[in-house]
Amino acid sequence: MSPSPGLPPALPGPVPPADFVVFGGTGDLAVRKLLPALYLRDRDGQLPAETRIVALSRAGLDVAGYRDKIRGELPRFVRADELDDAVLDRFVARLTHVSIDIEHEAGWSSLVETLDHPERVRVFYLAIAPSLFGPVSRRLADHGLVTESSRLVLEKPIGHDLASAREINDAVGAVFEENQIFRIDHYLGKESVQNLLVTRFANSFLEPLWNANCIDHVQITAAESLGVGTRGGYYDGSGALRDMIQNHLLQLLCLVAMEPPTYVGRETVRDEKLKVLQALKPITGTAVDSSVVAGQYRPGLVDGTAVASYQTDAERPGSTTETFVAIKAEVQNWRWTGVPFYLRTGKRMERRVSEIVIQFKDVPHPMFPGSEGTSEPNRLVIQLQPDEGMKLHLTAKEPGPGGIRLRPVSLDLNYAQTFQRHSPDAYERLLMDVVRGNPTLFMRRDEVEAAWTWVEPILERWSAPGHAPRPYPAGTGGPSAAINLLERDGRSWHE
Ligand code: BG6
Repeated sequence: MSPSPGLPPALPGPVPPADFVVFGGTGDLAVRKLLPALYLRDRDGQLPAETRIVALSRAGLDVAGYRDKIRGELPRFVRADELDDAVLDRFVARLTHVSIDIEHEAGWSSLVETLDHPERVRVFYLAIAPSLFGPVSRRLADHGLVTESSRLVLEKPIGHDLASAREINDAVGAVFEENQIFRIDHYLGKESVQNLLVTRFANSFLEPLWNANCIDHVQITAAESLGVGTRGGYYDGSGALRDMIQNHLLQLLCLVAMEPPTYVGRETVRDEKLKVLQALKPITGTAVDSSVVAGQYRPGLVDGTAVASYQTDAERPGSTTETFVAIKAEVQNWRWTGVPFYLRTGKRMERRVSEIVIQFKDVPHPMFPGSEGTSEPNRLVIQLQPDEGMKLHLTAKEPGPGGIRLRPVSLDLNYAQTFQRHSPDAYERLLMDVVRGNPTLFMRRDEVEAAWTWVEPILERWSAPGHAPRPYPAGTGGPSAAINLLERDGRSWHE
């Protein structure tokens, strides 16, 4: 498949000059994701000459030390064919570093001196613990740093339950207007996720089928082959339900299930997503035991390599934190009643795959008596990673001179091949949207709180005695109970 002739290259326009102020400027997120994303936007000419990046940390580095550090680190996270010495020099010259103790006064006056262009867009990026979101916002206000064109970017998790999320939202909301607050869910910045909106709303053939009359069920999977790595400290207090389901998977569910907005705009999409979250059937009490499966990985083999258990990786012997969750969710509205949405996420699974599977109902009547071969229900598979694309599974006749032999085949769209270019990383798109002040792909306060409202009864049930996650060997598809979750409905996970 190839794009239509004359397709204009997707060249981004420059964004207004900005000061990116990164709290946690030497941390993993800044080094691995934010700075590489900004480097690539610089390479494509999207950052005006005045744009600066002010990294804040307690690392005690001077500006030259920070620049050297980033010059050394960037090649680890930017592909070799995207590195260019001239761009690297230009980019590194934008960097500055301020040593600051964000919880105390030390360093704040240096930050005030550094931010000497109040007319520029200021992006305060909080790549730090959520418990500090409120206090840092307060200090920014106390030092007179919050201007009208300032934006606050918050990384998930926004709290660990509804009450803490509200507390954080209140605290940051006391300083910033809601339209200045950008809550990142990086899944919304993935090309294939945005393409889901385009597939649904820029094509006419799907919409009449996109409902309970024609769709049997939906599966949303985000499986990782990696374990918790060095993030055990954070992860053990979080678990897969808070880390992946409350945000990424529910956001994907919203995009699949939402009604068409009048147009795709800054509030219209978020309004429709909120309605989906509010229509989710609550899973409470004993229903949690039948509709939700939690698992935790044990030692196993991933890609032929022996790996340790979660408890060893996280250095938390006896931990009951879940590294796998499967849920049967239901959206209670006219469009979706009776269509289960099966969600699944896990670490140390067999392989890394994130996808959305829309399974259509089977044909109402078998039309080929005496035919050989197999016919399977139609499936639309939207692949988010590792390879972005889309497959439509159909049944076709196998060529042959006599009789009819049915065979499942697929129409295949692979983005990299079709568009002959790499998809940008989610952060590239999202950071530029922040500067432009476009919140469409960010979570609004009411969405975050509605998601916590739905997740909370599950957390409550699990906190009761006797609720431990089920063990599964690393390198597998999770606990067998997750397979049963579908099998008892006469369905199976798409593999
Ligand atoms: C993050 C989670 O939000 O998403 C991580 O905190 C997870 O635990 C990651 O590994 C997955 O992101 P991606 O883009 O690799 O699917």
